Amino acid sequence: MEFKATYVSWKEIEEWTKGIMKMVIENHYNPDIIIGIARGGLVPARMVADYLFKKDLLSIKTEHWGLTATMNGKAVLREKLNYDVSGKKVLIVDDITDTGESMKLSYNYVKSLNPADVKTTSMLYIDGSNYTPDFYGKGLSKEEWAWFVFPWNVYEDTYNLSKKFMDAPVGVGELKEKLAENYGLNVEDIDLEEVLENIAALKMLKRHEGKFSIP
Ligand code: ADE
Repeated sequence: MEFKATYVSWKEIEEWTKGIMKMVIENHYNPDIIIGIARGGLVPARMVADYLFKKDLLSIKTEHWGLTATMNGKAVLREKLNYDVSGKKVLIVDDITDTGESMKLSYNYVKSLNPADVKTTSMLYIDGSNYTPDFYGKGLSKEEWAWFVFPWNVYEDTYNLSKKFMDAPVGVGELKEKLAENYGLNVEDIDLEEVLENIAALKMLKRHEGKFSIP
């Protein structure tokens, strides 16, 4: 197997974001502002803001990972805040703390803006990461590392993982087998054909006689 990839369900997203909520409440942390790290932390941050009745939801953007499961060198801060957080209590939210570089960068950046306090949180935390968030929904050992295909990244990841097998036209059944063999992906978790058809409508894939290929 090249590496393991797993589709994540909305039910798991709810569980893990509620895990964050519980830890925040148990620790009596009452943030004034929630910051989602784009792109992966946007949906979790929105959910946590709902659970905690918070209206001040902002975002910053970091870039570290390029194409699905490939790292692009150093983590960089792409978009900063346009908001005065000095004297405020901040909660930073991301989907996963994997290498820890995005979270470390985000923490140091927000900390430099003189907030009263900053706490960091992610749904998933991989043990051995360079940064340990204050709160997280679920901890995973290094052995449990996988590329997690979150519900908001199904198109991008499915496309990136599939296109390697699409130099020649491939049917949906055959592609399912390839994705299972190479990544242990359970494609029954999504409607693969519908996803491929929608990608073909964008002209990023070619559809011919029920098979898909790179145009
Ligand atoms: N972003 C960084 N690490 C990730 C992983 N293991 N799965 C999904 N998204 C990620």
